[in-house]
Amino acid sequence: MNQVQTGQSDDIVQAYQHAAEVGGRAPSVHNTQPWLWYAGRTGLELRADRSRHLPTADPDGRLLTISCGAALHHARLALSAAGWAPHVARLHDPRSDDRLAWITVAEHAAPSAQDRRLFEEIDIRHTDRRPTVELPVPAEALALIRQAAADEGAGLHWLGQPDLDDLAVAAARANEIGLADLDQRAEMDYWVGGRRPARTGVPSDAVPERAPQTDVPGRDFGHPGTLGVGEGHARSAVYGLLYRPGDGPEDWLRAGEALSACWLKATDLGVAVLPLSSVIEVPATREVLRRMLSGVGHPLLVLRFGLAGPDQAPVPGTPRLPTERVVRPGPFPQP
Ligand SMILES: Cc1cc2nc3c(=O)[nH]c(=O)nc-3n(C[C@H](O)[C@H](O)[C@H](O)COP(=O)(O)O)c2cc1C
Repeated sequence: MNQVQTGQSDDIVQAYQHAAEVGGRAPSVHNTQPWLWYAGRTGLELRADRSRHLPTADPDGRLLTISCGAALHHARLALSAAGWAPHVARLHDPRSDDRLAWITVAEHAAPSAQDRRLFEEIDIRHTDRRPTVELPVPAEALALIRQAAADEGAGLHWLGQPDLDDLAVAAARANEIGLADLDQRAEMDYWVGGRRPARTGVPSDAVPERAPQTDVPGRDFGHPGTLGVGEGHARSAVYGLLYRPGDGPEDWLRAGEALSACWLKATDLGVAVLPLSSVIEVPATREVLRRMLSGVGHPLLVLRFGLAGPDQAPVPGTPRLPTERVVRPGPFPQP
């Protein structure tokens, strides 16, 4: 590893800008893309953009921060894959909750084969809301997916019976509560199919045409989309609780990094992923999940893993904001 020379600073700015652009391809709740980057010669800053927050469904910013954590991991991978060793200070400015991470690169490092591989999965990864095929996910694949989350400091707790029955009840209940709350309904209508800001939100072709057959219901978006779901039943899917020791902003950010890592690993292994967050949004159902963890941590997201059908068409891509909307040049404004 060598120290960076002064003459490399233009390369570094470009590397930060590229990393921020790659961060923008991360998954986010309702595809809100609630991040804003400042890229300059001294570093890359990740901020929360609360103009794309879900104040009703996510008043604490838990899902917003998890989404930003996923973007942070994507950006870290982009730097690693390009041969820069990133150093990250999380929640680096106590004066502002919005300043989520400060990334610098101090040295060159050859990218690991693993980082290069996961980086290549970034453009292949998508949320898949269709039923999974009726074949078990290999145990070795599940172990590698769990390890990817653990490497980023988050646990993944696989759910068996009777917890799966309780998850199914909780997911149905969370859907009912979300749809019955007029403010939440309006918020979801805005981001899913509504008159939301261009190149954000969940497009109709990513929303199932009807409720897919499954034991644990996915999020009910309140109206059908055009995504064909076929006749399959997701009975072979495996459900995991992504958790951290605490339930504060740093836990949320790190859970998002772990989400990105285990999702990209799953993509590499041919395993489809569907996050379920309505059960996290509703305090009563979040508490049901917390009890499943028997005190080892706080649940921050439910993830469904399953094999995608070999003859299924690829999931349609979702839009992203243009880079100039989410990446700004330094210097870095004070909070
Ligand atoms: C924190 C978080 C929560 C999410 N919750 C749900 C959910 O409850 N139901 C769902 O269908 N998708 C959920 N998603 C997936 C997003 O809708 C998806 O990432 C976004 O629309 C972008 O699409 P893509 O993942 O295909 O790139 C969630 C994603 C994140 C990061």
